Amino acid sequence: MNQTWSPQSWRSKPVAQAPAYPDDAALAAAETELQRLPPLVFAGEIRQLKASLARVAAGDAFLLQGGDCAESFAEFGADMIRDTFRVLLQMAVTLTFAAACPVVKVGRIAGQFAKPRSSSVEVRRGQTLPAYRGDIVNDIAFTPEARVPDPTRMLRAYHQAASTLNLLRGFAQGGFAALDRVQDWNQSFIAGSAQGARYRDLSHRIEEALAFMTACGVTAATAPSLQQTPFYTSHDAMLLPYEAAMTRTDSVTGQWYDCAAHMVWVGERTRQLDGAHVEFLRGINNPLGIKCGPGITPDEVLRLIDALNPNNEPGRLTLIIRMGAGKVGPGLPPLIRAVQREGRSVVWSSDPMHGNTVASSTGYKTRAFDRVLAEIRDFFAIHRAEGSHPGGVHIEMTGKDVTECTGGAQAIAEHNLAERYHTHCDPRLNGSQAIELAFLLAEEFGARRTLAQAAE
Ligand code: PEP
Ligand code: CO
Repeated sequence: MNQTWSPQSWRSKPVAQAPAYPDDAALAAAETELQRLPPLVFAGEIRQLKASLARVAAGDAFLLQGGDCAESFAEFGADMIRDTFRVLLQMAVTLTFAAACPVVKVGRIAGQFAKPRSSSVEVRRGQTLPAYRGDIVNDIAFTPEARVPDPTRMLRAYHQAASTLNLLRGFAQGGFAALDRVQDWNQSFIAGSAQGARYRDLSHRIEEALAFMTACGVTAATAPSLQQTPFYTSHDAMLLPYEAAMTRTDSVTGQWYDCAAHMVWVGERTRQLDGAHVEFLRGINNPLGIKCGPGITPDEVLRLIDALNPNNEPGRLTLIIRMGAGKVGPGLPPLIRAVQREGRSVVWSSDPMHGNTVASSTGYKTRAFDRVLAEIRDFFAIHRAEGSHPGGVHIEMTGKDVTECTGGAQAIAEHNLAERYHTHCDPRLNGSQAIELAFLLAEEFGARRTLAQAAE
């Protein structure tokens, strides 16, 4: 591998999933404009996230990463951001309380716009057009004009990410995330469901614990973590012109950071060892994710680790396993053994969404909630058997009451999908399904703790 790295060195490598921008000068102008704009996140925050992920890698915490498959310009507003944020808070508090495990919260939000596609074109009724690659690239409408990649969309995405992040920071630090509001996070559509009742029960127990702590003198004034919470952002670093323009040197350390998000990941379709994305990622100091599909080999994983984390820095790499229910059984153990044999520090995270996408009989892309849970259960069971830490989950979810994934306590059937199917790309868990998943995770963790105590 070429040793000289710069934010532009990826340009000499093959770029998978690159949009075909028709006007080079317009692209260059947008990149120059982005380079002039302030960073969205600060390097010090990125380092804090890396330190928290190092705790996850060591087995002392859990990573909860979730949000939209694709953010869009149309579905942008305070309600969307609040609803996603509060379901993530509900999931995190469920895990923290029920499993007594600190949770590192990372949103797929404030920049998750670019989408890799399995085909570069889309054909409808005999017409062939370029595929939709996310609002940061082109428009979802199926017309020739809409599908032309437009570099000024990167600027719009930047500004949307900035306002999203601004509100998230307000929520995380301004009292919305205070633990004594645990009951208020339960939205009405969730509150009425079985999951809502379970969550209410849990929040009463948290309130009792808080009352006890207050009586003992532990309050928000003495323990700020009761009042605010760290919350980080992440996205797929697919669109390299955007990521490179957002990459800056940190004045404190002189190191490079991609300041578009705290954490970025490389997708299943862009993780070629000799490709542009791996070249770009190796030079930035952010925590990185690598999506690992069913076809990845232990050798490939080790070579990616060598390329992206040569110094074996804990918290630097998260392997996001997205193999599909029934496929992690054969696929994951060889990866864990190879990583353990070589003494590499990684966070093992499960994305139970992307290997379980199917077409419904009514033509919608969907995921069966049972399959999602099955993949998570297998992921935990395998880690138990291999003696490694099942460090996190990576999910596509929304706080809204959508009908995109079948099953769950609301028993969404295929014929219900049309009712509230809003996603711009892949089907997401709705708020109630996301909380159900959090309870399952808490149980898996509880079982793990009991086993560990029994072994002591
Ligand atoms: C995604 O996370 O939205 C995605 C496209 O994932 P993958 O690269 O794993 O297919
Ligand atoms: Co997706």
